[in-house]
Amino acid sequence: MPNPFPEDFLWGGAVAANQVEGAYNLDGKGLSTADVVKYCPPGERQSLEQLLSMTRPELEDAIRDSDSGNYPKRRGIDFYHRYKEDIALFAEMGFKVFRLSISWPRIFPKGDEAVPNEAGLRFYDDVFDELRKYNIEPLVTISHYEMPVHLVTEYNGWESRQLVDLFVRYAETVFSRYRDKVKYWLTFNEINCTLKAPFLGAGILMEGKTNEKQVAFQALHHQFVASALAVKRGREINPQFKIGCMLARKLLYPYSCHPGDVLKAQAENQMAQFCSDVQVRGYYPSYIRRHWEQQGVKIDMLTGDEAVLRDNLVDFLSFSYYMSSAVSTDESLTDTTEGNLSTGLKNPFLQASDWGWQIDPIGLRVVLKEMHDRYQIPLFVVENGLGAVDTVEADGTVRDDYRIEYLAQHIGQMAEAIADGVELMGYTSWGCIDLISASTSEMRKRYGYIYVDQDDEGNGTLQRIRKSSFYWYQKVIASGGADLNNN
Ligand code: BG6
Repeated sequence: MPNPFPEDFLWGGAVAANQVEGAYNLDGKGLSTADVVKYCPPGERQSLEQLLSMTRPELEDAIRDSDSGNYPKRRGIDFYHRYKEDIALFAEMGFKVFRLSISWPRIFPKGDEAVPNEAGLRFYDDVFDELRKYNIEPLVTISHYEMPVHLVTEYNGWESRQLVDLFVRYAETVFSRYRDKVKYWLTFNEINCTLKAPFLGAGILMEGKTNEKQVAFQALHHQFVASALAVKRGREINPQFKIGCMLARKLLYPYSCHPGDVLKAQAENQMAQFCSDVQVRGYYPSYIRRHWEQQGVKIDMLTGDEAVLRDNLVDFLSFSYYMSSAVSTDESLTDTTEGNLSTGLKNPFLQASDWGWQIDPIGLRVVLKEMHDRYQIPLFVVENGLGAVDTVEADGTVRDDYRIEYLAQHIGQMAEAIADGVELMGYTSWGCIDLISASTSEMRKRYGYIYVDQDDEGNGTLQRIRKSSFYWYQKVIASGGADLNNN
């Protein structure tokens, strides 16, 4: 097959502010929802839900705790001070694009003040200028799993309609400031996460809520409206902007060919695409109405909301893809697998990562083809990668052949999908430099091409080391995706 990747394909890597920056209380930054998440050692973890949720007393303790606990996202990997060194390494790999997020509380420390924090704005000016030096295009997520913690204590996050205006003001501020420095934008990271992990995705405390689904869907409605209004304002500020939505796209297979299993998998995959149905097509899909009815959900919509959703569609659809799992109607099947924000049944045909995420490169091709058929707009894989334990050898090298194999297989399937006719804009693999895990706050779960010397407790020199995958990805990019071999 001739190399199907287009010349202008955006090769690169991705991170999020709260997982890399550190400097959580410097230069006027406010406390964020990520800064209040405490490290929980593997032996003490009960479930993924427990790791991702937050109670009011826990939150209040963390806000009072100036630094005595282990809050890994407060320190990140010190990208705040080392971004020049890190960007130089990305440039050495040949990155065309770097996906990063802006920390909302760096710009609006509390979230509801009238004037932004100039020092925060200046930091991202410097980062974007540094990227420009190397001709690396920034791809900016406006909200990636964090918001000012004040918006939780005062408004209960996105449960409140008031967040719409506060977010739009924040978005307008960064659109205007970086009008000529940033072209590609994403409004919310993995917007569908609000349904699975409401604190992580929407800053919501669920204690005392009688119908959690009601709260989550209402919050999501506010996020949809805020995202659409941001698209509108963004286009007014710079018509050249390309603004996308972002979805966690986990593929679900029917465990068997029993029609009940097929129907169940179809329904779950529909739910995985429910958010893009709204943001790409501009209206709530019909199937969601029945779901709401069954769950006792009634969405409070203002006059004009539906027009806002309809008139401000995204330019492209981006998504994360790490894994797949299976579903069944047979309740005796209980062998489940871990996963990206949710669990599912083990698939006997797949291997899993050390964290139990099932590795499925063909699933990426399935998802790409399905979304292309469904939406007919450009797609962008903005997260994909293998979380693994890496070892620094005695000679100082890190040989991560397992990661190369994972990435090569997934890129290979992207190539097939493009040959199948899918319009794919780019690929930013996740955690191009080792960072703090979003779900477990671990450091030992590494995704990077660049090793960072730091452990789960924050010990280490923070030295950056090029892994074997660094040189491999450099070759992949130089060959425009034609050479995926590990040699
Ligand atoms: C995605 C998030 O869900 O998965 C990232 O957008 C996250 O922020 C990534 O880091 C990998 O998950 P984890 O839990 O291994 O960090």
